[in-house]
Amino acid sequence: MTSTGFDIRRIGGRIGAEILGTDISTDLDPAIVTEINAALIEHKALFFRGQQLDDAAQLRFASLFGELTTAHPTVPSVEGQPHILPVDGDEGIRANQWHTDVTFLRTPPKASTLRSLVVPPYGGNTLIANSAAAYRDLPDPLRELADRLWAVHTNAYDYAEPKTEKAAEHRRQFVSRRYRTEHPVVRVHPESGERGLFIGGFAQSLVGLSPSESRDILRILQSYVTRPENVVRWTWAPGDLVLFDNRSTQHYAPDDYGDLPRLLHRVTVAGDVPVGVDGGLSRVVEGDEATHYTPTAA
Ligand SMILES: [Fe+2]
Repeated sequence: MTSTGFDIRRIGGRIGAEILGTDISTDLDPAIVTEINAALIEHKALFFRGQQLDDAAQLRFASLFGELTTAHPTVPSVEGQPHILPVDGDEGIRANQWHTDVTFLRTPPKASTLRSLVVPPYGGNTLIANSAAAYRDLPDPLRELADRLWAVHTNAYDYAEPKTEKAAEHRRQFVSRRYRTEHPVVRVHPESGERGLFIGGFAQSLVGLSPSESRDILRILQSYVTRPENVVRWTWAPGDLVLFDNRSTQHYAPDDYGDLPRLLHRVTVAGDVPVGVDGGLSRVVEGDEATHYTPTAA
């Protein structure tokens, strides 16, 4: 039990903790919010079981950690809820690729909340990886290389052919505006100062390197993020809420539930411009600052 009255039960040795004994649908004391934020920075992903929030309560809880983004830069929100993104397997949305949300923008979100409305009886888990632990795992020469690299992140690249018409429509929406941003491969966490790899699925090339060199080096760095030691796997029950720090994690949703229904609602907290180890700031290469998406865009 912490001083402010909730229990933290760690799940993995390197990432993930369940928060017990707090009802996040109530007005939380600011001291508790501070404790939850500290736990988020330490454990990267926090799990709140059986909370049974509605949309309004999820919005209120996410707002405790900062201003909200709208649902997505290109994908429509839940009807009438401009800040809520439906994550619906039936709509052909299968995020079975390691990524950090919306890193194709200069100001990707700080944190994401996911709330389960409908979960399949098996499968449909969410995997979350600690990209700061991955950075610490790198051998010195690779870490020194990574410190100096910058990556180009984009939402428009050579995706696999969509399998259904719904998936194709989602893909068309997803790339209806094109964004490209250069981010440091190693990001300094704005609250903790911790360094972490900041790559994932939208990172498609490395500045100054050829496409094939980029692919090889990104693959090597990414292999440290997705090591089982650095990953926590969450098995959803209806009413769960997961909060993860987008500045130090990647996530993946295995596409292993066939046609079974799965629906989550995502609400994200706006983030700042990433900073590299040399103090350099991320920069837009293509597309706008997405002021329609994030209030933190300059
Ligand atoms: Fe995601």
